[in-house]
Amino acid sequence: MQQFTPAVWQSWERFYRANFINSLTGFKSASLIGTINAEGVPNLGMFSSMVHIGSDPALIGYINRPIAAAPHTLANIKANGFYTINHIHANFLDKAHQTSAKYPDEVNEFTEVGLTEEYMDGVQVPFVKESHIKYLLSLKEIVPIQLNDTFLVIGQLEQVFIDPSLRPTTDGFLHLDQAGTICSNGLDAYYNTTLIDRFAYAKPGKSAEKL
Ligand SMILES: Cc1cc2nc3c(=O)[nH]c(=O)nc-3n(C[C@H](O)[C@H](O)[C@H](O)COP(=O)(O)O)c2cc1C
Repeated sequence: MQQFTPAVWQSWERFYRANFINSLTGFKSASLIGTINAEGVPNLGMFSSMVHIGSDPALIGYINRPIAAAPHTLANIKANGFYTINHIHANFLDKAHQTSAKYPDEVNEFTEVGLTEEYMDGVQVPFVKESHIKYLLSLKEIVPIQLNDTFLVIGQLEQVFIDPSLRPTTDGFLHLDQAGTICSNGLDAYYNTTLIDRFAYAKPGKSAEKL
């Protein structure tokens, strides 16, 4: 095996180190977070640190980088209290990736990258029309991580919108591969996915059972 130690990766050029470390945690669910600022300008950003926190209540978190590096999404979430998360599909991946550029606060990133704002009844924040699976969150908690000045932003699920062609299975599962939802690795690589198998709830003393 090749062995890497802190002394090795601290000697690397910063982008080489970032690519290596970012790849280690594996494939991520890359999605677009839609927000609106206090002046009403919509904002869109690529985020891959989404994490399931709990199902009841339904809580979803993501990590926001230090404010100086990624100021707009978090500021808008704080100002408005609501935000959307939108799955990404291969046919608009290039546009989705472009939202990671540092646009000024007054720029509408939907217009800038060529994606379409969609507003649902009674919801002020924008969804991505091109996305087949999208959901609305209300801000519940921002947990500062003092180690590196990042934030765990936790929202409660308020509404979910799924394209009519994509029904949950009889046990509630969403086949994201059939929806064409992409995933990511590091900060620049994206993948389509293929289901290997689903398994029954694992119990000690029993072999894993395919569904
Ligand atoms: C694949 C990918 C994943 C990213 N994931 C995150 C993330 O989880 N958290 C984060 O703060 N920024 C992430 N970024 C960077 C943001 O997209 C970028 O900072 C963006 O401009 C958001 O800035 P804003 O909040 O100022 O709009 C990611 C970028 C890419 C390309």
